[in-house]
Amino acid sequence: MRKFDVLQVRKDFPILSITTNGKPLIYLDSAATSQKPSSVINAISDFYKNYNANIHRGIYDISVKATEAYINSKETVSKFINASSYREIVYCKNTTDAINTVALSWGESNISEGDTILLTETEHHSNIVPWQLLAKRKKAKIEYVMMAGDFTLDMEDYKRKLENGPKLVSFAHVSNVLGTVNDAELITRMAHDNGAVVLLDAAQSLPHFAVDAKKIDCDFMAFSGHKMLGPAGIGVLYAKDSILEEMPPVIGGGDMIRSVTFEESSWNELPWKFEAGTPNTEGAIGLKAGIDYLNSHGMENIARHEELLTKYALESLEEAGASIYGIGSGAFNGKNRSGVISFKLKGAHPHDISTILSSEGIAIRAGHHCAMPLINKVLSEPALARISFYLYNTTEEIDAAVSSLGTVRKILGLKK
Ligand SMILES: Cc1ncc(COP(=O)(O)O)c(C=O)c1O
Repeated sequence: MRKFDVLQVRKDFPILSITTNGKPLIYLDSAATSQKPSSVINAISDFYKNYNANIHRGIYDISVKATEAYINSKETVSKFINASSYREIVYCKNTTDAINTVALSWGESNISEGDTILLTETEHHSNIVPWQLLAKRKKAKIEYVMMAGDFTLDMEDYKRKLENGPKLVSFAHVSNVLGTVNDAELITRMAHDNGAVVLLDAAQSLPHFAVDAKKIDCDFMAFSGHKMLGPAGIGVLYAKDSILEEMPPVIGGGDMIRSVTFEESSWNELPWKFEAGTPNTEGAIGLKAGIDYLNSHGMENIARHEELLTKYALESLEEAGASIYGIGSGAFNGKNRSGVISFKLKGAHPHDISTILSSEGIAIRAGHHCAMPLINKVLSEPALARISFYLYNTTEEIDAAVSSLGTVRKILGLKK
């Protein structure tokens, strides 16, 4: 394992040396998508230059090589999350696609009229809308675990709602607005004790700290390659082998079949049953390269670096008079929140903050962060500004962003 040195890390990411609006890029939006190291860019380019071919179809050399690379990628993902084997790794487009696959396959077969699906108030739209669509089709109900005053989940409310016997509990490991890290193991155990199946949305956790699917014991897990150094267009649905075996395919076509007659078809073995058509081979290769890069630094070291950045940013933002929507520096224990920090500056619209920071070369997110029920209803805000970190960010970048809040105040004529 390499010694973690953020300045060395930054050299591996070509985009971090560009200028934007005449200023060096300061990228503080990794919760939306991560930047890519050269090793990922090169792995994809190498595929196209040297062994581009369709997988599973050719018996010629480069097709065999492409097939091996695709399977290798699945093996890497399987080890990374401690799955039992790559049979449990279904490639999808992204987290959204993975959750929709569960709703359309497991949900269609297991949710009936009057059943309850239990979500939380802090979910991303991608863990709300697929269930709303399913609930409408099936005349099922959706309930939401409330957020507590300290931006964590209200576990008493969770306990009460579990007593209603939900068929499914689906929740984000880390909120993309609050940054709160939920106790996935405990929530899963409580759900299982009440007979519910569990889906873990790991989009904001898996890129940042070690996540062990077996230890958590969730039945499904969804995450996106593009948030963990990989390319866009590749995401993962992990599911326990026994559950995937029982699930029907969602879409049909080439590769997902064992045999086809004019009358009927039978299905291929796992995980191919869920991957109809030519897959995103370059995406799989890029995702493997991304995970190899993360492993070369060690997830512990990455998590420790982000923990330091988070502490520093919370203290600096609070000092600058920003209101934090999430666990603040006083209650931060290093593990209960991640480096996704939503905030408000009194009198400044988040879009104005983001626009003014952009003119300084600083990329931050502003808006409803695809969590309108949480931001509009629970937090009673129209929008929030958000900064988020990854392994390549520095305290100097946080200083620049926080100091630019002074510029925002000056331009908008606001007092601290
Ligand atoms: C917690 C969470 N879940 C799901 C998603 C959806 O991810 P994707 O757009 O890659 O499908 C996101 C994206 O920001 C997220 O933060």
